[in-house]
Amino acid sequence: MRIGMLTGGGDCPGLNAVIRAVVTKGVQVHGHEFVGFRDGWKGPLEGLTRPLGLADVAGILDHGGTILGSSRTNPYSINGGLDRIRTNIQNAGIDALIAIGGEDTLGVAKKLTDDGLGVVGVPKTIDNDLSATDYTFGFDTAVMIATESIDRVRTTAESHHRALVVEVMGRHAGWIALHSGIAGGANVILVPEREFDVEQVAGWVRTCFDRGVAPIVVTAEGALPIGGAESLKTDSLDAFGHSRLGGIANWLADEIEKRTGIETRSVVLGHLQRGGGPTAFDRVLSTRFGLHAVDAVHDKDFGMMVALHGTDIVRVPLAEATGTLKTVPPERMSEVEVFFG
Ligand code: F6P
Repeated sequence: MRIGMLTGGGDCPGLNAVIRAVVTKGVQVHGHEFVGFRDGWKGPLEGLTRPLGLADVAGILDHGGTILGSSRTNPYSINGGLDRIRTNIQNAGIDALIAIGGEDTLGVAKKLTDDGLGVVGVPKTIDNDLSATDYTFGFDTAVMIATESIDRVRTTAESHHRALVVEVMGRHAGWIALHSGIAGGANVILVPEREFDVEQVAGWVRTCFDRGVAPIVVTAEGALPIGGAESLKTDSLDAFGHSRLGGIANWLADEIEKRTGIETRSVVLGHLQRGGGPTAFDRVLSTRFGLHAVDAVHDKDFGMMVALHGTDIVRVPLAEATGTLKTVPPERMSEVEVFFG
């Protein structure tokens, strides 16, 4: 078979590890050939390809980013997008596609499967918000970076008797905030799934400060004050209708300082969480996802996504993975509340 592969949406550590595993097993075990589509769905849409042989994937296991490039192109928001993809795929002699991405990229993969194309999905996102898989790769690395950052801001907050608000990624799901908050020993964790009361947050910061601890608040970028609106970076939306979030930490730091009189600083981790090489956990997960994805294509098991269930890699329908976002359940928040304040 001649298999096309693409990486779409926000990049994350581990993409290259998937690509390496797919090509290595695909060529050496199954005897398939590969073509790389550049920049997510823009590649098939505009016929942008690059060679993808064993030599191209040598030594990329630990490299951050993606050798294929990425974008948030949505072919279904473009007139005639599906037909253009069909034509370009035919012209490149492609029999099947492997799409590595999050809810948006895999949502397109699902629609293309419904429209008759052979696609297998691989779940990627630092946000860990894809359903039907216990974890996505990239999440562990993002949590590790955020945790290290929390450890670091804590020492400077202690020296200066300040409170620190750390903003991590997560538009609709607070997994990074929750896990890095627990791992970093945060005194308050705020997630998009549960609106917060600013007075209560200020109260927790005060309690903490009064017992001689530098208060650390970890907030997801999509966390909302009760009755408030999301903190937007710009008013524009991407091709999948998402707004660019950012700024809740700055706003909250001001509110805390106003209410408590405690000097409060904020830091936005932003794309640091997506850059650089993957952790060992993510390298293993990405590699296993890649090995199983190429098997699924070999079996012509299209419309499926590889997923982690416990310690097993299984195949689940793309529809199951992309139907609803996997958000933080209320009980996971209640579990850690004992550490607040
Ligand atoms: O999709 C993952 C994500 O990291 C979100 O958490 C974040 O809001 C977004 O990407 C930022 O993406 P961009 O690369 O467009 O700034």
